[in-house]
Amino acid sequence: MDWGLKNRLSRIIKPSTGKAVMLAVDHGYFLGPTGGLEDPRKTITPLLPYADSLMLTRGVLRQCVDAGSPIPIVLRVSGGNSILEEELSNEDMTVSMEDAIRLNVSAVTLSIYVGGAHQHKSLINLGKLVDEGQKYGIPVLAVTAVGKEMTRDERYLSLSCRIAAEIGAHFVKTYYCEGFDKLVKKCPIPVVIAGGKKVSEMDALELSYRAISDGAVGVDMGRNIFQSDAPVAMIRAVRAVVHEGYSAKRAYELYTAIKNDKKNKKTNGRMTKAVAAPDFD
Ligand code: 5RP
Repeated sequence: MDWGLKNRLSRIIKPSTGKAVMLAVDHGYFLGPTGGLEDPRKTITPLLPYADSLMLTRGVLRQCVDAGSPIPIVLRVSGGNSILEEELSNEDMTVSMEDAIRLNVSAVTLSIYVGGAHQHKSLINLGKLVDEGQKYGIPVLAVTAVGKEMTRDERYLSLSCRIAAEIGAHFVKTYYCEGFDKLVKKCPIPVVIAGGKKVSEMDALELSYRAISDGAVGVDMGRNIFQSDAPVAMIRAVRAVVHEGYSAKRAYELYTAIKNDKKNKKTNGRMTKAVAAPDFD
């Protein structure tokens, strides 16, 4: 791997632990004002000190993150669809590599739709993005998007992750599933998990713990952090699981302690209640 590419990847997957806490706030690229992200700057700002990297679109990056921020950026470069469309797989590239470089990103990311109506286009786009990434030393994160009718089992997710790796993605984001350890063993690139729909804090921490125990290098979590009652407490608890090997129970105790700590109450980062906004999966 070229030095520049390796250096950028090490901003996301921390060499000190070999793990990554990525904060995903790119949901608006097809969901619009997702619950908890109505005002992205307000939601993101208090969480930045606890995230290793931030996954988002260029619009939110330019408008809602200070250019002086040291947070490494994983830029979403695919889109072109919305939740109003039944078939979500019809995505194309929405950002050039030139603009990604101008934004000084640490990685670029796009979704692939294995088995979806537009599988071919998404996989060819991944190949083109990897070619560009190799040229300029920018790592590519493939997101294995799951069509409405796909089963999220080990067989399907292993297929998607392996195809992403074969085409040349440098790391892959997928969902946790039963038998996740087998998926990781069959995937020659680092795997991070999405958090998925909001569940209880304990369940989200259990999910993170299991994923790490099964070989994931980290989480790329969105709703289970920013839709939490106490987002700062939650990201700090997730961090403890990912980087410090906390059990889910111990991390939940940390979450509760930070949430209930008077000093932290004002800065827990809860800015908006998750409202009935469009959601997916
Ligand atoms: C959508 C994405 C999102 O970033 C991701 O899935 C959101 O994370 P979470 O599921 O934890 O809210 O890549 O395709």
